[in-house]
Amino acid sequence: MNKLFIYYSLTNNGDKVADYYKDKGYDIRKIEVKKKLPKIFFFRIMTGGFKALINYKEKLINFDNNIDNYNEIIIGSPIWFDRLSTPVRTALNKLNLENKTIHFVLYSGSGTGKKAEEFINKNYSSAKITILKEPNKYNDELKKLD
Ligand SMILES: Cc1cc2nc3c(=O)[nH]c(=O)nc-3n(C[C@H](O)[C@H](O)[C@H](O)COP(=O)(O)O)c2cc1C
Repeated sequence: MNKLFIYYSLTNNGDKVADYYKDKGYDIRKIEVKKKLPKIFFFRIMTGGFKALINYKEKLINFDNNIDNYNEIIIGSPIWFDRLSTPVRTALNKLNLENKTIHFVLYSGSGTGKKAEEFINKNYSSAKITILKEPNKYNDELKKLD
């Protein structure tokens, strides 16, 4: 059966993970949002952190939620304010992951994301979770996916 990596990335760490899975034969679907976070670091962190805190519903661009042809789904998300990013939270609401093998690959500045893990354990109890510390900076982190 086919395997799919669905992910969001604002600053390209997720794209590096996508390249890894592409090489392994996965199909790739990148989540795109209508309104990106501000470019200036301070405003980006404040806006994204607040959005994550209130579980803001993003407007996604052409998100294809048909995953009928796949039995293994990997979800990739940056960590925002210790949580899943809001583009990924919004996409998850549109996906029926029942009866799928699910793996979450998270990428963060610290290599942790406690609230995100709690959310996944509560809502997708069978899912495997791997957290990477910014793979663009720390190449070896991708080895955790082998
Ligand atoms: C709005 C925002 C909030 C963030 N919050 C956290 C955080 O709580 N903990 C952490 O370790 N990193 C945090 N980061 C850093 C990102 O998780 C990290 O840089 C990640 O690798 C980005 O992935 P991307 O480049 O694919 O977007 C945050 C970044 C942004 C933009």
